[in-house]
Amino acid sequence: MQSLQLNNFGPDHLTLVDSAMPEPSEHEVVVTLAAASLNPRDSQIIAGHFTTAVEFPLVPLSDGAGTVTAVGTKVTRFEVGDKVTTLFFPNWHSGEATNGERGVSTGLEVPGAAQEVGVFHEDSLANSAPHLTAAEAACYPCAGLTAWSALFDKSFITKGNWVLIQGTGGVATMGIQLAKAAGANVIVISSSHEKLEKAKALGADYLINYIETPEWGQRAFEISGHGVDAVLEIGGTATLENSLNAIRHGGHINIIGYMAGIDMGITVFPLIIKNANLHGIGTGNRDSYESLMQFVGKHGLRPPIYQHFSLSEVKQALHTLDTGSPFGKVVIDLSQT
Ligand SMILES: NC(=O)c1ccc[n+]([C@@H]2O[C@H](COP(=O)([O-])OP(=O)(O)OC[C@H]3O[C@@H](n4cnc5c(N)ncnc54)[C@H](OP(=O)(O)O)[C@@H]3O)[C@@H](O)[C@H]2O)c1
Repeated sequence: MQSLQLNNFGPDHLTLVDSAMPEPSEHEVVVTLAAASLNPRDSQIIAGHFTTAVEFPLVPLSDGAGTVTAVGTKVTRFEVGDKVTTLFFPNWHSGEATNGERGVSTGLEVPGAAQEVGVFHEDSLANSAPHLTAAEAACYPCAGLTAWSALFDKSFITKGNWVLIQGTGGVATMGIQLAKAAGANVIVISSSHEKLEKAKALGADYLINYIETPEWGQRAFEISGHGVDAVLEIGGTATLENSLNAIRHGGHINIIGYMAGIDMGITVFPLIIKNANLHGIGTGNRDSYESLMQFVGKHGLRPPIYQHFSLSEVKQALHTLDTGSPFGKVVIDLSQT
């Protein structure tokens, strides 16, 4: 079986290597991985922009999906044939994380999903919603769970609420689907008219081009009537002020991304005046992931996939994620190396 290994920083240091088929120990599960998906963090880890604390060789990518093909003698959570995905934080199962639970992530501190066959502790996997293909299931562990945690664990979104979603990438597109399935009204901002039309097809109710309408926060406040209940904050520096303008009193801003800057130098007054709730979102735990999979199954959701690549094309896939402005997710099909 083949795996992708990073031997030094930079995509040119990714190589495909042949490895022996793994054998599970007592509590381990062998998974034949059929797909992985890319997140900006994966690209940053490979480039050396996320952290210098990488132990080489590293099997990258946090998100993968496949089928259980062998189980250790003491495994109770899975059987051969189960459809599973990796977890972004394999040791964080419930509640708020301890430092230890938060300190281990798939595709960085432990091997990731860029391999045809992986061996994982049974606690570090979760069942996929049954209707999903492997490529679709591989979209949820990081980006899907992040949208879920923000919308429901932190912002308590329910029918009739208003949600403002920034952009049209992985987190945003799954956020649109989840919020609409919960009965919320969704406002989407994007730099692209074409992508806004695709967001509308996914269910978005109101569309704002943030290039043409730089005061989009005020516009979202007006559209919702009294301010939005929650924002999925993807931009960072360039977007937080508008997000504060968009929310209702007591509304929720979920700090997820830093696509438009990492330094959030704002004055405290808008936060105080609006009784704003600012939540840092760090993906989520296994309980939330299982709730997400149940919800995805109940509503028959399928995440938008922008483009598929093979494992040998991973450099092109990373380039597409970094520069191609994808609508939805970029996926690696692991069974077609
Ligand atoms: N905290 C967490 O747990 C967590 C989890 C997953 C991802 N993230 C972070 O969240 C961000 C998005 O991740 P992703 O996987 O969705 O990435 P992605 O698929 O690459 O999408 C990036 C999106 O950012 C949008 N964007 C860029 N600049 C913007 C701006 N000034 N205003 C509004 N939107 C802007 C783009 O929107 P348009 O192209 O439509 O204009 C694009 O759709 C990244 O920074 C990522 O590192 C954090």
